[in-house]
Amino acid sequence: MVTITYIESSGVEHRVEAKPGQSVMEAAVKNGVPGIIAECGGSCACATCRVYVDEAWCSKTGQAQETERSMIEFSEDANPGARLSCQIKVTNELDGLTVRVPESQYS
Ligand code: FES
Repeated sequence: MVTITYIESSGVEHRVEAKPGQSVMEAAVKNGVPGIIAECGGSCACATCRVYVDEAWCSKTGQAQETERSMIEFSEDANPGARLSCQIKVTNELDGLTVRVPESQYS
């Protein structure tokens, strides 16, 4: 199992055990993490699963691909660490990952 911590904008933390192969969004939704809406169910088409990844983790989470980048731009989220959590695959390398959840998934 891979431990991921989600921090709400209020500072409340949710520590979740995720399975490799899941997405960071699926692990959040299955464990009832508030603030991850995921309206499109993981199709990279809604941008309501955004999280903020610290720069230190970016080499392990990888970079957003073009479609994901477009969706983040469309959402008008200017946070440099913004990612769609449905596009981050859980791997053993991500054990200990901490992500922040935006105050709102809607602008
Ligand atoms: S769940 Fe819709 S873009 Fe991630």
